[in-house]
Amino acid sequence: MDPYCNPYRPGAGTRPLILSGRQAEIDAVTKLYKMVKAGAPQRSIMFYGLRGVGKTVLLNEAERIAEEEGYRIEHMELAEGIDFRGEIAKAVRKLLLRANMFERAKDFGISALRVLKAFTIGIPDGPEFRLDIDAALGQADSGDLKSDLTDLFVALGEAARSSGTPVGLLIDEVQYLDEDGLAGLIAASHRISQRALPVVFVCAGLPQIAALSGDARSYAERLFDFRPVENLRRDAATEALVGPARERDVHFTPDAVEHILDITEGYPYFIQEFGKHAWEQALANPITKVDAEIARYEATKALDASFFKVRIDRATTGEKRFLAAMAEIGSGPYRIADVAAHMHKKVEQIGPARATLIRKGFVYAPQHAFIDFTVPQFDQFARRFFNLDEPVED
Ligand SMILES: Nc1ncnc2c1ncn2[C@@H]1O[C@H](COP(=O)(O)OP(=O)(O)O)[C@@H](O)[C@H]1O
Ligand SMILES: [Mg+2]
Repeated sequence: MDPYCNPYRPGAGTRPLILSGRQAEIDAVTKLYKMVKAGAPQRSIMFYGLRGVGKTVLLNEAERIAEEEGYRIEHMELAEGIDFRGEIAKAVRKLLLRANMFERAKDFGISALRVLKAFTIGIPDGPEFRLDIDAALGQADSGDLKSDLTDLFVALGEAARSSGTPVGLLIDEVQYLDEDGLAGLIAASHRISQRALPVVFVCAGLPQIAALSGDARSYAERLFDFRPVENLRRDAATEALVGPARERDVHFTPDAVEHILDITEGYPYFIQEFGKHAWEQALANPITKVDAEIARYEATKALDASFFKVRIDRATTGEKRFLAAMAEIGSGPYRIADVAAHMHKKVEQIGPARATLIRKGFVYAPQHAFIDFTVPQFDQFARRFFNLDEPVED
């Protein structure tokens, strides 16, 4: 097929031509905006799932809908070791300065800026805030992130309410928040909903964010609607594959669809990559199973060189040994005791490596005493990468 018309879009956060199977998520976001705008407090949304399932795409969609609903939005992407206070300050500053708050709600706008200035006082090497205004002493400057974030978001919410412009903060890669940051976000949401202020959060991250337990979990669940984002079910996966080509009057034979969906297991990133290569391979319409089989080789090569590669490059030698041991066992989830035994070590000895792998976003704990990769089919990749034999399935 004509490579210049290729309708597939593998890439982090790249909007697919057809956003398939996510109507429930889109409806939930839309409802959140409409209700909060109407003064009815709602739980903020927390999307969680493996890499490549389409969380960032959903956040981008949430941004578009927010704008349609008249919201002022800031989009943040967290990273390992990020200065959360500084990032939040930057985002809130933009929201305050960009909004027409000063025309419609001068007093509230100014007092929010004063709270923001106080919030930034404690930031070492933080962003330079040239706000020609006095800090609101005693607010948002305690050094305790939880209470400071709450003060800041209440001030922002009051400015938003009196100016008639609801605001939203979209936070991607939220698994990089430390415990303090997460607690702060939850506490701020709590106060915002108690006061019915027009501020919403829509967050996305790896599954470890849902791993809170006990009281922390029930508290978080009262304030955040935790929504798993998973691989697409068969009908939605079929649409994700055949829909983009159909827009160009190109079709797949049923056995080609079957083949690609079996291999990709409905993971959106893989579907885009396979679709792209099947399109490139095919000489005629429709795209056949033979085209799909050749595309498998090309798509795998492309995924290894990008999607998987960028992850493995961030692991140290010791961490790679850990990942290789997991892959050698087979497919997950993995009992931690089995991984330790495989490495000829005790469970306690692999504890530190396990903790850094979780922090770096390679693995997560699907349940107590187990771990699994945060990237689908990473075990297959790791066996290719480390030249390991296929495990013998029993
Ligand atoms: N619902 C969907 N239908 C079709 N393709 C999708 C869908 N969601 C995501 N994709 C595609 O999957 C890839 C990964 O999406 P992304 O949002 O970056 O995933 P995540 O943030 O979960 O790692 C992108 O190429 C995107 O175009
Ligand atoms: Mg993402």
